[in-house]
Amino acid sequence: MPVKVLMVCLGNICRSPLAEGILKSKVNSSEVVVDSAGTAGYHIGKAPDIRSIEVALRAGIDISHQRCRRFTPEDFENFDYIFAMDRENLMDLQRLARNTADLNKLYLLLEEAGIPGEEVPDPYYGGNDGFQKVFRMIDAATDKLLPLLSKS
Ligand code: 4NP
Repeated sequence: MPVKVLMVCLGNICRSPLAEGILKSKVNSSEVVVDSAGTAGYHIGKAPDIRSIEVALRAGIDISHQRCRRFTPEDFENFDYIFAMDRENLMDLQRLARNTADLNKLYLLLEEAGIPGEEVPDPYYGGNDGFQKVFRMIDAATDKLLPLLSKS
């Protein structure tokens, strides 16, 4: 059985699609299944933000096929690890948890990657450099997650 990982941000068009694409590029899909979702439903069905698509493409990762979806409580059943990009995302997910087992699947991405106190900032209202920064943060964090995911 593969380990199942869900990356979560607010809109599921900027940060978590990048996190999905970057982690997928580092794992064998038969061992680690990766998906992403948003806590809000503003952009359901849409492709990722063009700035995320472009920053990923520069690293040879194509995320243009991804489509935005909203997190649902069933995701707690379907995933082993649910990584929130920032503390607000984490709190929103904690509110949706139905029991301790659900709560125990929730992690702050950078904390789990050994970068405590840091969040992946929302780049939506900023410029292209914000997307580049987010890409680098997620790239470094997902490298650090690999041992955890392979031990599962
Ligand atoms: P994300 O960024 O959570 O990284 O996908 C955002 C995308 C859209 C909005 C906010 C954040 N929005 O307000 O529409």
